[in-house]
Amino acid sequence: MIRAILTYPNPELKKKSAPVVVINDAIRELVQDMADTMYHAPGIGLAAPQIGVHQRVIVIDVSAHEETPDLIVAINPVIVHAEGEAYEEEGCLSVPKYAANVRRHARVVVKGLDLAGNERTWRAEELLAIAFQHEIDHLDGILFVDHLSPLKRDLFQRRARRMAESNEGCP
Ligand code: NI
Repeated sequence: MIRAILTYPNPELKKKSAPVVVINDAIRELVQDMADTMYHAPGIGLAAPQIGVHQRVIVIDVSAHEETPDLIVAINPVIVHAEGEAYEEEGCLSVPKYAANVRRHARVVVKGLDLAGNERTWRAEELLAIAFQHEIDHLDGILFVDHLSPLKRDLFQRRARRMAESNEGCP
């Protein structure tokens, strides 16, 4: 089921998510909803708090331009190793109509559980490495705009306020 995506500055996006204790039907349904919502948007990643569920679950699929989907489901994901530097443009389904370059690690190793409850290790680079870092940030209440320099962040916040005000002015 496609769920509504919360957008900045909704305070729910700032909350820290709790680890998943047991992978039950509710978690399986959550993952299905997250995948449906991500593909529908469309986006390359989604974290549970973006649909208002504060559990440590992320979905990622960076194969957008290829024919076969390649869905990664990571439960309780943790970055256990990070190296190198990246500075790529990012966007977020929770921050519509805005993109900015963000400093990240170029390569990460992530450990977590898959939907079957198996321990998994993902070795990621390039876009996938950035997606893991971006989505795991969401689980800690961090948005990509939180990584901007104070000046850029100030400009972003002014722009967001202007957009909110102009939306209120429309019938
Ligand atoms: Ni995001």
